[in-house]
Amino acid sequence: MTNPAVYLETFGCQMNELDSQLVHGALRRLGYAFTQDPDAADVVLYNTCSVREQAEQKVWSRLGELKHAKHDRPHLVVGVLGCLAERDGLDLIRRMPVVDLLCGPGELDKLPTLLDNALRTRIALAQAGEHQRSARQAALQGSTSRRSATLAAAQDDLELLDLSRAISPTDHNGSAYVRITRGCNKFCTYCVVPFTRGAEIHRPPEHIIDECKRLADAGVLEVTLLGQTVNHYRFEHDAAVAVGGVVQPQKGRSYAGGHRRDPFQGHRVTTFADLLFRIHEEVPALQRIRFVTSYPRDFGDDILDVMRQCPRLCRYLHVPVQSGSDRILKAMNRGYTVGEYLEFLGRARAALHQPDLGRPLMISADVIVGFPGETEDDFNATAALLENARFKSCFIFKYSPRPGTVAFDRLPDDVSEADKRRRNNHLLAIQTRISDDISRELIGETFEVFVEGVSRKTLKRQGLSHGQIRKTGGAVAITVGGRSLDPHAEAACATAPADEGPVQLSGRTEGDNIVFFNAPDDPAPWIGRIVPVRITQADRLSLHGELAPTDLTRG
Ligand code: 5AD
Ligand code: SF4
Repeated sequence: MTNPAVYLETFGCQMNELDSQLVHGALRRLGYAFTQDPDAADVVLYNTCSVREQAEQKVWSRLGELKHAKHDRPHLVVGVLGCLAERDGLDLIRRMPVVDLLCGPGELDKLPTLLDNALRTRIALAQAGEHQRSARQAALQGSTSRRSATLAAAQDDLELLDLSRAISPTDHNGSAYVRITRGCNKFCTYCVVPFTRGAEIHRPPEHIIDECKRLADAGVLEVTLLGQTVNHYRFEHDAAVAVGGVVQPQKGRSYAGGHRRDPFQGHRVTTFADLLFRIHEEVPALQRIRFVTSYPRDFGDDILDVMRQCPRLCRYLHVPVQSGSDRILKAMNRGYTVGEYLEFLGRARAALHQPDLGRPLMISADVIVGFPGETEDDFNATAALLENARFKSCFIFKYSPRPGTVAFDRLPDDVSEADKRRRNNHLLAIQTRISDDISRELIGETFEVFVEGVSRKTLKRQGLSHGQIRKTGGAVAITVGGRSLDPHAEAACATAPADEGPVQLSGRTEGDNIVFFNAPDDPAPWIGRIVPVRITQADRLSLHGELAPTDLTRG
């Protein structure tokens, strides 16, 4: 078969989005075509998430829908990538015989080989009329154990996947993710990530900086550095290992703090603060540098100092707190108290919250309600924490027991679904009020806004209900579902019919506030640029404004 068409759908977090981009690039280089229509695909790949059961359910229902498709198109290859593949392994195949291929997040570099095997086997079986037999005997190297962990040290082939990242000026809308750390060593008792993504490893700083430079050369203005506990980044140069001339990622140690508190004195170490500083200084074309997700413990003053000193480091932090009760934080194995979390917030705001200079610090968080044993008192403590912390936004999750975690094995899921729902709604109401207040404080201010695309409202008006528009070398591409990774595949022009009024653009401030404003004329030239917008209206989720005089315009 020549140029098989791949449909790739991504579920879950930013780490998964980046993995999908890398997979997309690797397969495209091998001649695979991409389609946004699963019915037209030879290969359907789902890059999955298993952090909460709800995320998994979506994948199960998609796989269920494919049963019929596979009946009609026996050559179709179905692959499950990511955390669900790693966690469920053979059980997944047993439950969903439609699946031909499994590939955990720790072995994505092997996907092209697995896929090639699966396609060849599928075609051979289809030609022989043996439609019922699965190709998976050939393709399945899927996850029966925690293989990611074995990738933790020097032989991390995955690094090659990041290193071989194809970056072209038409591949992005001005913004890109860069991984700095893989995996997690924290083992919070509710969390499946250490099992699905394996032990923590840190990429060599040279690789990260080189990737940032290549992105900037291709026109990227904003990078988001990714890690599960991004501020724990640390690379010891004296301990670096090179294999075949390639410096290998390095195992995370128990966190040893920032540079200035380095117990391995005399060793050359790149801490997270050093890394931020180097990217800021060595890649001046990047207008915005942000990072997620921060861990509330060990967030040293060295990081805050660098953020204050380097103007292109965004005043935005995502720092999950998870609970406002010390008892629950302990049961979650989070390793800090509410007091310590609040101490950190105070320190960060004292260093970085500068509304008078037009640079307020925006902080967002995650919270879990209904963790095993959570009493009304514990819950009320979380509600009080939300009032006290005044997050810009807070993602609130109902506890979801995850097989394989300590909480699943040892702690009964004893908060009823009704209580979880009530607690969730109560916190949502508090957070809505706070987010509203914070947004309203921004009215009248002018912020630089990174323009990401045409707003959903405009696209809906134009009959493109789920979509995004982005600039692709002068043309404008629409990506249905916001998930198209091939701007050429679905390029189309969003024109603004004269009688329908102006096109509304959407973008983000450095503090990650969403801003809508009307394009003064043709929308395309504004997309992927940073422009000043004066805020005129606000609501909980977004700000509305108008383009300010363009002499300040950058990008
Ligand atoms: N149940 C509910 N929420 C969870 N999270 C992680 N694991 C679970 C779980 N088992 C939430 C945490 C984390 C975010 C990414 O997902 O709040 O910060
Ligand atoms: Fe999961 Fe905790 Fe690691 Fe975050 S820090 S990925 S919640 S184990």
